[in-house]
Amino acid sequence: MRGIVTIDGPSASGKSSVAKRVAEALGVPYLSSGLLYRAAAHLALRSGVDPKDEEALLRLLEAKRVRLLPERAGNRVLADGEDLTPFLHTLEVDRIVSEVARLPGVRAWVNRRLKEVPPPFVAEGRDMGRVVFPEAPHKFYLTARPEVRAQRRARERPEAYEEVLRQLLFRDAKDRTQSAPAPDALVLDTSDLTLEETVARILAHLKD
Ligand code: DC
Repeated sequence: MRGIVTIDGPSASGKSSVAKRVAEALGVPYLSSGLLYRAAAHLALRSGVDPKDEEALLRLLEAKRVRLLPERAGNRVLADGEDLTPFLHTLEVDRIVSEVARLPGVRAWVNRRLKEVPPPFVAEGRDMGRVVFPEAPHKFYLTARPEVRAQRRARERPEAYEEVLRQLLFRDAKDRTQSAPAPDALVLDTSDLTLEETVARILAHLKD
């Protein structure tokens, strides 16, 4: 595999786990673009920068020398050499990350970080196939019913299912504009598929 595979979809559609497994099977790295948006949100929270203040946030991101390490066991984000990864999947970050991800300057900053990585790789996010790597030959878009996605996410969070579902629907609405599937993406509903089944379908499609 020499090209780029993109896997997009809404929160907790399974795209991170699927991208990781597909990349493993292909023997290439995967890139988690959401982790960079999460790092921007976390740094804003931690530094007391108003997430609406785009200029201040971009200055902060440049100053912190943020880097995505596309490690196969799990992507990590470093800022000034510090590993931010353990702080990125929290409800505090969940709450403001859509706000941060709507800023055009932040989107351009994330996209530059992703384009620095030499192919081949599997890239997962919201707009990988439509905006960042429109030339990618293989594009997938994963969906699942909100209740199924909230159940999956609730397993990774201390909060109750109802709170996770509420946040997820709120974030779906906010992320909607950047989350449309690429016209040439294969759309897969994973509500009734296991992780293994989803990965198998993608690999079968890539083989064809
Ligand atoms: O995939 P995730 O839940 O970790 O993404 C975190 C947030 O970042 C989510 O609210 C949407 C945003 N995001 C985005 O706008 N574009 C991407 N390519 C990836 C994530």
